[in-house]
Amino acid sequence: MNSPALNSIFNEIFEAVPEKSFFAPGRINLIGEHTDYNGGHVFPCAITYGTYAAAKSREDRKVRLYSTNFPDKGIIEFTLDQLDYNKDHNWANYPKGMIRYISEAGHQIPTGFDCVIEGNIPNGAGLSSSASIELLTGVLVEGLFGLEIPRIDLIKIGKQVENRFIGVNSGIMDQFAIGMGKKDAGILLDCQSLKYKYAPIQLENHKIIIMNTNKRRELADSKYNERRGECEEALSQLQQKLPIEALGQLSDREFDENQYLITNETVCKRAKHAVYENSRTLRALEELKAGNLEAFGQLINQSHISLRDDYEVTGMELDSLVEAAWNQPGVLGARMTGAGFGGCAIAIVENDLVESFIENVGAAYADKIGYEADFYVASIGDGAKAL
Ligand code: GLA
Repeated sequence: MNSPALNSIFNEIFEAVPEKSFFAPGRINLIGEHTDYNGGHVFPCAITYGTYAAAKSREDRKVRLYSTNFPDKGIIEFTLDQLDYNKDHNWANYPKGMIRYISEAGHQIPTGFDCVIEGNIPNGAGLSSSASIELLTGVLVEGLFGLEIPRIDLIKIGKQVENRFIGVNSGIMDQFAIGMGKKDAGILLDCQSLKYKYAPIQLENHKIIIMNTNKRRELADSKYNERRGECEEALSQLQQKLPIEALGQLSDREFDENQYLITNETVCKRAKHAVYENSRTLRALEELKAGNLEAFGQLINQSHISLRDDYEVTGMELDSLVEAAWNQPGVLGARMTGAGFGGCAIAIVENDLVESFIENVGAAYADKIGYEADFYVASIGDGAKAL
């Protein structure tokens, strides 16, 4: 969506000309899944699909929001003096939560504003459309009112909105990737210290393909919170002997030697995934930097297997897509990305074979599952910004 198109929608809805436009991307995660809330590493990147906003400040304290993705919800309206969660406000609770916590952090939002939002991230696909709206609201409020909010604060405020306002106990990966994204680079983030570094994604003659299962992510939030709980249980049993604060501090070997402390077999498998996935992520970065694309792809495949067998967050749809991808020629690696339980997977595919890849994997998936998957070529783009 370019600004002129969104401006004319703004014009139609609010009968005025917007002052400024903003963009926040979605994200994919290359490797390092379910490691963020375990104090491990993640390796995501921002993509060029995302959410756009056109906005204009008002003279009073009203906030009016309209999304072209939810036209049936109409204009959602509230004031800066009433920023509680409201179920009827639906998607607008994300911007509302941001406004609330930005103000509570001491930044003065002097007046309300009108805003039209449009996203081109496939709906409910696990590419972080919610974190995209959060960071979009952050840069919008900054840009409209001349605030200077350190980016890391906006990222933490976004996470706070998920955890406290919406009630999903997610980690910091999504907001970080969307807040800090950089064109053609992945971000290796240590989720314990929040230290990070960019790594150029040089895949020679390969493209990253996003594969959407189109499966609704039912129960995703409750299962997500359940996995978190299992990891906390494992950690507290390991802490009887080990002076650690997070599973991400353990090497594979330390885990193997101490796993007997974890009494429940399922809980032990969850912790094993968290520990091994963290070391896979660090190795993946090294292989990528060294140009060992085959080895990088193998680690991506192992990540999926671990998420399937030990963490058990894949399900038939994601497994079918990924297994079909593994069977194609010219595929370096494929895995689910994001929380799992539906949503998207990624595959790294040789340029010349992308078309036949999409055709073959699409056919195998539709044949097995009974409905179509969608495919997108990913481009790695910048983080949230004013346009
Ligand atoms: C979701 C959460 C992230 C992260 C991933 C799994 O995207 O929002 O914090 O935990 O799942 O890696």
